[in-house]
Amino acid sequence: MYSDKVMDHFTNPRNVGELVNANGIGEVGNAKCGDIMKIYMKIENDTISDIRFKTFGCGAAVATSSMATEMVKGKTIQEALDLTNKAVAEALEGLPPEKLHCSVLAEEGIKAAIDYYYKRQDVQ
Ligand code: FES
Repeated sequence: MYSDKVMDHFTNPRNVGELVNANGIGEVGNAKCGDIMKIYMKIENDTISDIRFKTFGCGAAVATSSMATEMVKGKTIQEALDLTNKAVAEALEGLPPEKLHCSVLAEEGIKAAIDYYYKRQDVQ
């Protein structure tokens, strides 16, 4: 049912935890299941220099978050905003159709963290 890549990122997720010096934080919930995810980013010179996530979600949410954080780490804000949940699912060699909604958490969490970062820039 799950690809080897999904199993790998689920059993050995990358970038789990918090960042104490994060300047971009996003928390989102999945309307379909009620699961939640929090993303912490350190953004420097328009680039995501570090990223962590914590999720209260299913295995597919853990795997997609792990893969998504790997895909945006070291990338520019614009590249991160362009990342789609479909691209993350493809990088994981696919998700079962009924689990595709889980991959939306990571995409939305990244966008929410960047949004938070921009809002903080405005008030400084
Ligand atoms: Fe909730 Fe997967 S079932 S994120």
